[in-house]
Amino acid sequence: MSPAIEIHHLTKKFRTYRKKPGLKGAIQGLFHREYDETIAANEISFSVQPGEFVGFLGPNGAGKTTTLKMLSGLLHPTSGTASVLGFTPSLRENEFKKRFSLVMGQKNALWWDLAAADSLELSRVIYQIEKPVYQKRLDELTELLDIKDKLNILVRELSLGERMKLELINALIHSPQVLLLDEPTIGLDVTSQKKVRDFLKSYNETYKVTILLTSHYMQDIEELCSRVVLIDEGMLRYDGALSGIVEKFSGTKIIQMHLHKPLSHPIPEHWGEILESTGLLLKLKVPRERISDVCREILAATTLSDITIEEVPIEEIMRQLFRTQRPTFSSE
Ligand SMILES: Nc1ncnc2c1ncn2[C@@H]1O[C@H](COP(=O)(O)OP(=O)(O)OP(=O)(O)O)[C@@H](O)[C@H]1O
Ligand SMILES: [Mg+2]
Repeated sequence: MSPAIEIHHLTKKFRTYRKKPGLKGAIQGLFHREYDETIAANEISFSVQPGEFVGFLGPNGAGKTTTLKMLSGLLHPTSGTASVLGFTPSLRENEFKKRFSLVMGQKNALWWDLAAADSLELSRVIYQIEKPVYQKRLDELTELLDIKDKLNILVRELSLGERMKLELINALIHSPQVLLLDEPTIGLDVTSQKKVRDFLKSYNETYKVTILLTSHYMQDIEELCSRVVLIDEGMLRYDGALSGIVEKFSGTKIIQMHLHKPLSHPIPEHWGEILESTGLLLKLKVPRERISDVCREILAATTLSDITIEEVPIEEIMRQLFRTQRPTFSSE
């Protein structure tokens, strides 16, 4: 089976004019322009098989949106190639447009001043969907997303969660085979986030549509994506199972112990970082390669009633990886 999405050495460089401060700078700029170059995507290569649900992760400014825009044909790559369902996105062929969708959580595709139903009708005309097919599809999607009663409300009067559900319907009304989702749950409350998540999960399972999802909420990724692609500063840093991120990027494990009696000496520094030390509970963060040595030393120093060795939670690793992240990285 050929991949639904295939990119090779995909690169996008932006050239922005650097304006010098003040009037003098502005005048100088008329004669001598200086430019800054940003490499938003730097030789990225990966492919996605039909029906896969892949998380596309990276800190702010990593190049996720730029890559999704190149996959949609909204931006031309500086170099490298992209293929979506066998089409070259930047050619923007009509047949291609009918077979994929891009949803951007921060932008609306629905018409602000129309009722949702009218805005969706416009999409029906644009995509040349037969009326009975459209109606069946609309009934099905509005049922699945539980939003039937909001179809006649002006888009600008809908709540954020309602609008996102209708944006998803708008994106899926023509039954695309590839769905690119750029932060579809951004700003939604926990309940709406969950509804959108549940919908995407069942939609992917039922229709085997290929989905590439960007989200800053780890819960979205954990619940939906069996595979993640991680980029940073435009470069691919990881491609594999979410759990593999723990192996690759976490150099430590957490040892939690319940002691029989308190230690007779202070905790030596080489045991690791103390996360908690209250009464008989001791929690340490220990480098992976030293786990067995540290355990041996602890057992020689005291007796334990219980011990567990755990991986560092994935959320914590992501937080460390994406230090520049917005504060609301989890869904609380
Ligand atoms: N049109 C543009 N002109 C110049 N620079 C741009 C343009 N679009 C994006 N960039 C720059 O390219 C880099 C990647 O931006 P991009 O929007 O792809 O990041 P992102 O991974 O989607 O980040 P976020 O998580 O904040 O949405 C950033 O440094 C950004 O400033
Ligand atoms: Mg973005």
